[in-house]
Amino acid sequence: MIVKSAEFICSNTQISKLPPPVKAEYAFIGRSNVGKSSLINMLTAKKGLAKTSQTPGKTQLINHFYINESWYIVDLPGYGYARASKTNKANWSKFIHTYLDKRESLQCVMVLIDSRLEPQKIDLEFCNWLGEKGLSFVLIFTKADKQSSVKTDQNIAKFKKALQVTFEEVPHYFVTSSETQLGREEILAFIDTINKD
Ligand code: GTP
Ligand code: MG
Repeated sequence: MIVKSAEFICSNTQISKLPPPVKAEYAFIGRSNVGKSSLINMLTAKKGLAKTSQTPGKTQLINHFYINESWYIVDLPGYGYARASKTNKANWSKFIHTYLDKRESLQCVMVLIDSRLEPQKIDLEFCNWLGEKGLSFVLIFTKADKQSSVKTDQNIAKFKKALQVTFEEVPHYFVTSSETQLGREEILAFIDTINKD
């Protein structure tokens, strides 16, 4: 797929104010600082489209980006931000879980996992919750440029093994780097296939 246009539409804290659920939508989610906003910029080839930061907790709203005037990429706040207050964490959790569970136009949840890390409990719990809700999701292992492909493969194998405890079939996965554009074509082709169904 060629990304011809990518346009910021709106930021929201209220589900009632989201764009009407009539266009296919793909939500990018994962731990704070995992690289969600950077990946969105890489996929759309628009550097400043989604705001990125070295400080975790940058994205605090549901952000809609309209792609090729036909479908949405959604940038979500990261989970597991250690320095967030308890109230903030609880609010985040409720808001995002409601969005994911109720959004009719959501085609697939793109769960970003830091490829440098061993399986993290918070990521596994989140995947299990998606599974319980029957939501389609794929895994995107980010920041692959930061270590050897051997190390990345080892961490992916461990993550898959950990998921096999609860999932009969491990979801489809991608390996990416927002620095080198690794994984860009594969993810866009995947979205294209769903959009055409
Ligand atoms: P929150 O919105 O705070 O949850 O973070 P986020 O998941 O949107 O992460 P963001 O894209 O802001 O990236 C966090 C940091 O990681 C930034 O300093 C990025 O430059 C860096 N980063 C993201 N992706 C990559 C990558 O693929 N490779 C490298 N080397 N750095 C990356
Ligand atoms: Mg972000």
